[in-house]
Amino acid sequence: MKVGILGASGLVGRTMLEVLAVRSWVDEDPLLLVSGRSAGTKLSFRGRELVCVETDAQSLAGLDVLLCSAGREAAGQWAPVAAGAGALVVDNSSRFRLDEGVPLVVPEVNPPAAGRCGPGKGTLIANPNCSTIQIAVFAGALARAFGLRELHAVTLQAVSGAGQNALAQWEKEKRDPDAAGGGVFPRRIAGNVLPAIGPALPAGDFEEEAKVRRELRRILPGCRDLPVTCTAVRVPVHTGHSVAVRCVLEGPVDMSRVRGVLDGQAGLVLASDPHAYATPLEVAGTPLVHVGRLRAGPDQPRALLAWVVADNLLKGAAWNAVQIVERCLGLGGPDGNGAGAT
Ligand SMILES: NC(=O)c1ccc[n+]([C@@H]2O[C@H](COP(=O)([O-])OP(=O)(O)OC[C@H]3O[C@@H](n4cnc5c(N)ncnc54)[C@H](OP(=O)(O)O)[C@@H]3O)[C@@H](O)[C@H]2O)c1
Repeated sequence: MKVGILGASGLVGRTMLEVLAVRSWVDEDPLLLVSGRSAGTKLSFRGRELVCVETDAQSLAGLDVLLCSAGREAAGQWAPVAAGAGALVVDNSSRFRLDEGVPLVVPEVNPPAAGRCGPGKGTLIANPNCSTIQIAVFAGALARAFGLRELHAVTLQAVSGAGQNALAQWEKEKRDPDAAGGGVFPRRIAGNVLPAIGPALPAGDFEEEAKVRRELRRILPGCRDLPVTCTAVRVPVHTGHSVAVRCVLEGPVDMSRVRGVLDGQAGLVLASDPHAYATPLEVAGTPLVHVGRLRAGPDQPRALLAWVVADNLLKGAAWNAVQIVERCLGLGGPDGNGAGAT
């Protein structure tokens, strides 16, 4: 199986390489594709050094699978070329997420049909926004079991969610009290929180907030018109997004039924009691979505509150993309664990 990683030298690309290293179906060295800027970069795979090469149409021609994590522009240029040559392409950027012809997939919630999307069929699938994914694993189970009337989210997003330049800027700010933004963030992130992620939109939202709303409506079952609000906040945390979610169910919350449904949800770990919770520091480096602080709204019988934490580079990006590939290949269960793991 020939797998390519477009944007291999980036944070998500490197995480993909780590994930692929322990998957048994990956029986050849992946092809590491970058721009001319980082061609020649060496990355370790299963104890050997692989060299990143500049992307061109020829390099994409022989691939069975292409995992894209090189941003919107590169995805727009290369994903259709690879899919046109027959590869199964999973893109992490926002470039195709709202295209009706492109599935937007969280495997635990709306898995692709195995057999219809494997290599040789030229399928393009979009990986959702990192915050969207972890909210969807939690809210998808509720939507299916109880129906949703509303969803409100406040995201607390790690610096690594904005890529390697963002981490470098944060490090610089920690050393230099006068440094700020550096073209990555609108203001200083060290010792601060910024309720502004992505470009400003005319109605008052920032782009990240609109992404969460639009993407959840595409992914959650029966939720095409679900009222969704989001305030997206960047916080000085290395890796791991946290989201305070408030869902309004179709009927009154029956906590033992809710806990039963969430306990049975693949890819989700439910904390033992309403005061228990996970933190980004504890969850970084793990593939699951952690749900804690689960409680009913005090004044509204249909409202359910939760604290939802996941690793943005793994479940929010690389792991979700590899799960999608494994579902298309017919490997593993709904959480992707199983046949694909070594
Ligand atoms: N970070 C996260 O938590 C996260 C989560 C979900 C989705 N995503 C999405 O995943 C993508 C990558 O994010 P990231 O955090 O890994 O960013 P990053 O650390 O900035 O890495 C981006 C990579 O893409 C490469 N690249 C840029 N333009 C390219 C081109 N034209 N052709 C080939 N390679 C190119 C860059 O290397 P060179 O320019 O040096 O070649 C770099 O290796 C973005 O679309 C992002 O929105 C990220």
